[in-house]
Amino acid sequence: MAIVTFTSPTMHKDKAVYAVAGDTKTILALAEDYNIPISFECRDGNCGSCLIEVTYDDPDTKKAIMLTDKEKSTLKELGKLTAEEIENAEVNDMPPRYRLACQFIARDENVTVSFTGEPGGA
Ligand code: FES
Repeated sequence: MAIVTFTSPTMHKDKAVYAVAGDTKTILALAEDYNIPISFECRDGNCGSCLIEVTYDDPDTKKAIMLTDKEKSTLKELGKLTAEEIENAEVNDMPPRYRLACQFIARDENVTVSFTGEPGGA
């Protein structure tokens, strides 16, 4: 079970929701279930509209959530992924700070997802 807390200037207050362990819903799908307004267009990791910033409530429980090549290249195009973060992801399985909500799946760690409400504006 993961607790995903959504926070954005477009929301009245933060919203914490439970993501069921073993569920493969993306953060974008979870947000839609709870009417949380994360922007999106392609749902396929290409456009960058669904950019989010992810922080881990307990950094020691960070799970290795693989960046797909598509997510990696879109984040690079947006200037939201440094060479150091790529190396950290590939070598140390450390997830980067920015992700795409349509690609990111919360496992059993508690995370806070921040977004501005502007497409690609996390
Ligand atoms: Fe296009 Fe996520 S909706 S990258």
